[in-house]
Amino acid sequence: MITFCEERKTFKLDTPSSSYVFGIEDDRYLVHYYYGRRIGNEDLSYLARTEGTRPSERLREKNSFLDFAPMEYPVSGTGDYRPAAFEAQREDGTCSAELYYVNHTIEKGKLKLEGLPATFGSEAECETLTVCLEDPILKLKVFLVYSVFEGLDAVVRSLRVENGSKDSNVYITNIMSTCLDIDNDDYKLLSLHGSWARERNIETRSIAHGTQGVGSIRGESSHQEHPFIALCSNNTTQTTGDVYGFSFVYSGNFTASAHLDQFNKVRVLMGINPYHFRWKLEPGEQFTAPEAVMVYSHEGLGHMTRTFHDLYREHLIRSPYRAKERPILINNWEATYFNFDTEKLLSIAKEASKRGIEMLVMDDGWFGVRNDDNSSLGDWYVNEKKLPGGLKPLVDGVNALGLKFGIWMEPEMVSPDSDLYRAHPDWTISVPGRTPTRSRNQLVLDLTRPEVWEHTWNSVKTVLKSANIEYLKWDMNRQLTDLYSAGLPADRQGELLHRYVLAVYRMQETLVTEFPNLLLENCSGGGARFDPGMLYYSPQIWTSDDTDAIERLKIQEGTALVYPLSCMGAHVSDCPNHTVGRVTPFKTRGHVALAGTFGYELDITKISEGDRDLIPTQVADYHKYGDLVRNGDYYRLASFSENGKFDAWMVQKKDGSEILVTFVKGLNEANTKVRFIKLQGLEPGVSYKDETTGRVYGSEVLMYAGLPMDSLNGDFDSKLVHLLRVD
Ligand code: GLA
Repeated sequence: MITFCEERKTFKLDTPSSSYVFGIEDDRYLVHYYYGRRIGNEDLSYLARTEGTRPSERLREKNSFLDFAPMEYPVSGTGDYRPAAFEAQREDGTCSAELYYVNHTIEKGKLKLEGLPATFGSEAECETLTVCLEDPILKLKVFLVYSVFEGLDAVVRSLRVENGSKDSNVYITNIMSTCLDIDNDDYKLLSLHGSWARERNIETRSIAHGTQGVGSIRGESSHQEHPFIALCSNNTTQTTGDVYGFSFVYSGNFTASAHLDQFNKVRVLMGINPYHFRWKLEPGEQFTAPEAVMVYSHEGLGHMTRTFHDLYREHLIRSPYRAKERPILINNWEATYFNFDTEKLLSIAKEASKRGIEMLVMDDGWFGVRNDDNSSLGDWYVNEKKLPGGLKPLVDGVNALGLKFGIWMEPEMVSPDSDLYRAHPDWTISVPGRTPTRSRNQLVLDLTRPEVWEHTWNSVKTVLKSANIEYLKWDMNRQLTDLYSAGLPADRQGELLHRYVLAVYRMQETLVTEFPNLLLENCSGGGARFDPGMLYYSPQIWTSDDTDAIERLKIQEGTALVYPLSCMGAHVSDCPNHTVGRVTPFKTRGHVALAGTFGYELDITKISEGDRDLIPTQVADYHKYGDLVRNGDYYRLASFSENGKFDAWMVQKKDGSEILVTFVKGLNEANTKVRFIKLQGLEPGVSYKDETTGRVYGSEVLMYAGLPMDSLNGDFDSKLVHLLRVD
C-alpha cells in the first residue's frame, strides 16, 4: 500500500512486513526517512535525520544539510559530496544539479518501461507512486517511479528523465536506478563474485569508510561480478538478521556500491555503470533507467531469497513455460563438441528416447564450416557435410523418435573467418584504424545499427522457421571491447553500451513475440549474463559451463540466493568431469541437477551401462518432484562452501503438504556418526511422514532437532528425502 500524508508531506510504501518512508523537506528536497521492519502511520517526520540543519540555517549552511541529510535521489555539484545518483551536463559545460519536488501521483498497477525488461503486475496486485522532480537550471524533469506488490516485501524503483528545454541539449553522465541512505548498523556487504565456470560465489565483507562495491564494464552483467548486493546486519543467518537485498533488472554494465560516510551513514547505489556512459537528450527527449529491486527481510537471508523467488517467478518471467514442466533435454556439447553429424545425433536421440529423455539439443558446430571455435559465427546456414539435406531430415528423424528438437545459436557474434565478415567487415563494434581485440577468435556485431540488427534477426528467424525447432539456446561468448559504433555521431558514442543492451532486448522481445511457444534458454559462456533482465525473456538461463556436481553446489547456492530454481539450467554430465576432472556418483549428479531445469549433457551411447540404467529413475524423479522444485519455497539448510563437508537444501510446497530435502556429502570421513539436518519454515503442530522409511516426525522436531542423514557412503554421496504431511 502506498500513502501520502498531505499534512506532513510524507510518502509511505508498506509491504506485508516492511515500510519505506520518505518526505518533502523545505517544500523541495526529497529526504529519506526510513526503510526497515513495518511501522505504524503516526507522525514519522522526526525520522528525517536532518538534525543540526535547521531550516532557518539552510541558506547559510546549505552544504552541511546536503552533505548530511539522507537523500532520496542525491545529485552532485551543490554540496552533497557523497557518491551521487544523478549527474548531467549542459552544452555550456554546467554540471551541478538540484532536484526539487514538483508533484506526484499514486495509481493502481505497474508501469511498463520503454524497451526495457521490468517486473509487471495487474491493478489488483501492484501500486505505483511517481514523484516528479525538476532542475530549473538544467531544465530537466526527473520522474522517480516506485511500485509495491501485494503480499511481497519488495519495492521496485526506476526513473525517467525528460529534457524540458526548448533549445538546449543535456548529457546524462550518471543515472542510478536506486539509492538508499540509512544509518550504519554494523552492516556487512554481501556480493557474488566469480569467473568463467565459477560463477556467483557468495562473499561477505565489512563496510569501511569510503566506497566499496561491485560492477561490470564488460558490456554484460558478467561472470566476474553480479548485479546483486545485500546489506546484512552482523551475524545474519538464513533465519535471523536484517537484510536489504538489491537486484538490478539489467544485462549490461552495472555498478552496485555502499559508501560509508563521515557520519556513519551508508549510501547504497545501484544503476548503469557510468564508465563510457554519456547519453544525449535533445529538447523533449526522454531517457528511462532500468529497474532496481529492493527486498527487506528481518528474518535473515532466507526470507529475502524467497521474496526474490516469488517476485521473479510471478512478476518478471513471462514465458508460458514459467511454472510448467520443461522437456528433459539431452545436449550434445560435452558429448561430441564440434565432431558430430546427423547419424551421431540420431544415435544419441535413439538411446535417449528409450530412457524417457524428451528433447535433443544440437549445440555449437552445425553451421558454416565450424569444426572448431575459430570460424563461421554469422554464417547461420547448415553445414551439409555434417547434416546432409539440412536441418529438416535431422529434426524429422529426432521427432520420429518421439523427441523434440532444440538448437544453439550465438546471434550477436561474427568470426573474422566467415562469409558475413568478408562481406561486411565494418559491421563490428571496433575503433577505426585499430585492430579489434578478439576473444575466442570472434568479434561483436554492432546491433545498434539498423541494417546489422535486421540481418541478424532475419538469420535467427530463418533458422527457426526452417524446421520444427522448439527450443533455442542463445549464447554470447565474449565481452565487449573497442567501443565505437560507426552508426553513432561523436557526441553519442557514450550511448553505445546501453544501446547495445537495448538492441539485444529488442531482438529477444521480437523473438518471444514471433515464436511464443519457443522455449528460450539464454547463456553466455556459461552464466555471464544470468541476470533478471534476461529472465524477462527466457524462463531459464544456463548457470555455468562447470557441470561438476560438487562445484555446482557453490554455484547453485549463490545463484539460488536470488533466482528461483526453475530458471537454473542444470545438467547431468559425464565423468571424469570435463572441467575439473572429478568423479562423482551418477546419482549425485542427478540430485544436483534436479535443483534446476534438469537435463543431460553427455554421450548416452558411450557412458557405462550402470549409469545409463539410472537415467529412467532420474527421469521419474524429475517428473515426480519437478513441480515442487519449480514452484515451491526454497530453504538453504547447510552450505558446502561454508562448512566444506556437506550441502543441504529443501523445497516446500506452497501449501506445506510436501517437502523434498536434498543432502550432498563432500569427501567421506572415517568413523563419523549420523548428521542431523534441521529443516526450516514448517507449520508448527503438523506431522510429516518420510515416504521411504515410513517414519513420522512432528514439524517441531524436524526444525529443532533435525532429520537424520544416515546410510551414506563413499565420497560425494547424496540423498533425497521426500516428506509428506500427515493430516
Ligand atoms: C558456451 C556455452 C556452452 C557451449 C559452448 C559452445 O561456452 O556456455 O554450453 O554451448 O559455448 O561453443
